Amino acid sequence: MDNSVYADIEKLRSRYATKQFDPEFQLSAEDEAEILEVLNLTPTSMGVQPYHAFLIKDPAIRAQLQQAANHQMQVTSSSLFIVLAAGDVLEQSWTRRYSEMVASKRNIEPERADAYMNGFRAKMSLQSEAYRMEWSARQTYIALGNLLTFCAFKELDSCPMEGFVPEKFDEILALKERGLKSIVAIAIGKRSQNDKNQFLAKIRRPINELIEIV
Ligand SMILES: Cc1cc2nc3c(=O)[nH]c(=O)nc-3n(C[C@H](O)[C@H](O)[C@H](O)COP(=O)(O)O)c2cc1C
Repeated sequence: MDNSVYADIEKLRSRYATKQFDPEFQLSAEDEAEILEVLNLTPTSMGVQPYHAFLIKDPAIRAQLQQAANHQMQVTSSSLFIVLAAGDVLEQSWTRRYSEMVASKRNIEPERADAYMNGFRAKMSLQSEAYRMEWSARQTYIALGNLLTFCAFKELDSCPMEGFVPEKFDEILALKERGLKSIVAIAIGKRSQNDKNQFLAKIRRPINELIEIV
């Protein structure tokens, strides 16, 4: 391995779930835009992107979300706080939008572009709503993973979060009326020097215990 590979891995070793952010730190507009693009570039099954991301800028809403997240400090002290909310692909416009974009960007007749999504919708209609919501929720974690890794490489600190009461998040963000459910959140910023978690040893099983060669 060359040294750059070691340096990359070191960035992943150095990231940790940040509990306490420096509340004075503000991400630059460029970093924020890049993070949002990482979110958008995240691949999803069938390319449907079956979720919405809510970038919470309003301090009053952040304070309400914090209450609903066990008062976790990350919600208000991070520079960026994003909530990912999934929905039912048969109820939302996402598959139609996908077909529209395929037609326009790949220069394909709309009917042909829609055939792919029609097949998908037919398959999904055989499943329960709970299954479809679970399917969509799984996709949000791909975005979460992508964001965590990207932040590590940018040497930004982050905390993945599902320690909140989803029903309360849904109420605060008026998600229910839109057929959405909050799944997971991410706080991004710079660690506070007072955050004790940064000094904790990383806990991971040895690689040969985690990975079996078959
Ligand atoms: C999906 C998910 C949800 C998490 N929710 C929370 C949370 O609500 N609050 C928190 O402090 N940490 C949360 N964590 C952080 C994990 O506890 C942490 O990532 C794990 O212990 C590994 O430690 P490390 O991230 O520091 O390497 C969450 C992590 C993941 C992946």
